[in-house]
Amino acid sequence: MRKDKVHIFDTTLRDGEQVPGCKLDTSQKLVIAERLDQLGVDIIEAGFPISSPGDFQSVSEIAKVVKEATVCGLTRAVKKDIEVAAEALKSARIPRIHTGIGTSDSHIKFKFNSTREKILERAVEAVKYAKSFVEDIEFYAEDAGRTDNEYLARVCEAVIKAGATVLNIPDTTGYCLPEEYGAKMKYLKENVKGIEKAILSCHCHNDLGLATANSISGVINGARQIECTINGIGERAGNTSLEEVVMILRQHPDLNLDTGINSKLLYSTSQMVSQKMGMPVQPNKAIVGSNAFAHSSGIHQDGVIKKRETYEIIDPEDVGVNESSIVLTARSGRAALAYRAKKVGYELTKVQLDSVYDEFLKFADRKKEILDEDIHQIVIASKVNIES
Ligand code: KIV
Ligand code: ZN
Repeated sequence: MRKDKVHIFDTTLRDGEQVPGCKLDTSQKLVIAERLDQLGVDIIEAGFPISSPGDFQSVSEIAKVVKEATVCGLTRAVKKDIEVAAEALKSARIPRIHTGIGTSDSHIKFKFNSTREKILERAVEAVKYAKSFVEDIEFYAEDAGRTDNEYLARVCEAVIKAGATVLNIPDTTGYCLPEEYGAKMKYLKENVKGIEKAILSCHCHNDLGLATANSISGVINGARQIECTINGIGERAGNTSLEEVVMILRQHPDLNLDTGINSKLLYSTSQMVSQKMGMPVQPNKAIVGSNAFAHSSGIHQDGVIKKRETYEIIDPEDVGVNESSIVLTARSGRAALAYRAKKVGYELTKVQLDSVYDEFLKFADRKKEILDEDIHQIVIASKVNIES
């Protein structure tokens, strides 16, 4: 059966770059944008052109070099923002303006000192104005996660009529539970007139560690775009992590959803963004962390050596990692030691392995991790007679 396409909207260079303490210059952003294009993302949100001359320049330059993806610029529901974004995007092969406004009661009251009706009018005006510059208009209902569903549906219906092609439903504060976020998408799918003309988009923040789960719940319930960043970087606890949603959809063919991302570039792209941002990837980060394919306990190591799938659901090569690693520690068993010893050139018989293993445990109790060079020392210290 043909799989349904889930569009990947990468916002590493916009929402991702809002991470405290990080700043990318235009040349760094260009390198990342070209890599995202090779990775196969459908949309690159290149920046927020009105926010600074530097951001304007970055969006303009990215618009010139991106070959495949749509290039998108963010605006508020403000005419000047939209004009500046349109100008920055003018060289893009496929430009998209991403405009919107806060729709939750707290945004309406405290941010805008306004009313639901006035906000709805501003949303429609902004979409109509953006549509006078480019065809592809994405509308975001900021804080949709905490917006009343009935009002949200009215806003969505009105902006589709005004020309919006994509409806972004951000859980701006990372508040929703997966069931709740999924139910919101389902409600919109079932209650917004004209919804078949637009794509619903998930934009989830990770304040409760639920960004990925919420995005997946969103697509299960009818959304067909996920907004995400490499390594999940972004404001506060970050955004949905691109590598996670891509691999979840790939590892669950039963969902019948596909992103078309070239997953073999995931690891190197993660490393590239981490270096350019000066933000290390946490070792236990799913998919791209340094421990994602590392096995350290004896029971797991034995299982993986016998058959990789015993403790791994992803082939590391599928995400661009050469192979799983067997980390030698005091918790490792003979199978792991024999495996690693073989890799550095020692084929140990069972009797030899027993002697080397005794020596190994003495070393391992003193050192957190046994490296290749330590294995040579251990073999020598064990005094077994082995041709290496
Ligand atoms: O989190 C959010 O609501 C956003 C919008 C500006 C799209 O990033
Ligand atoms: Zn956001």
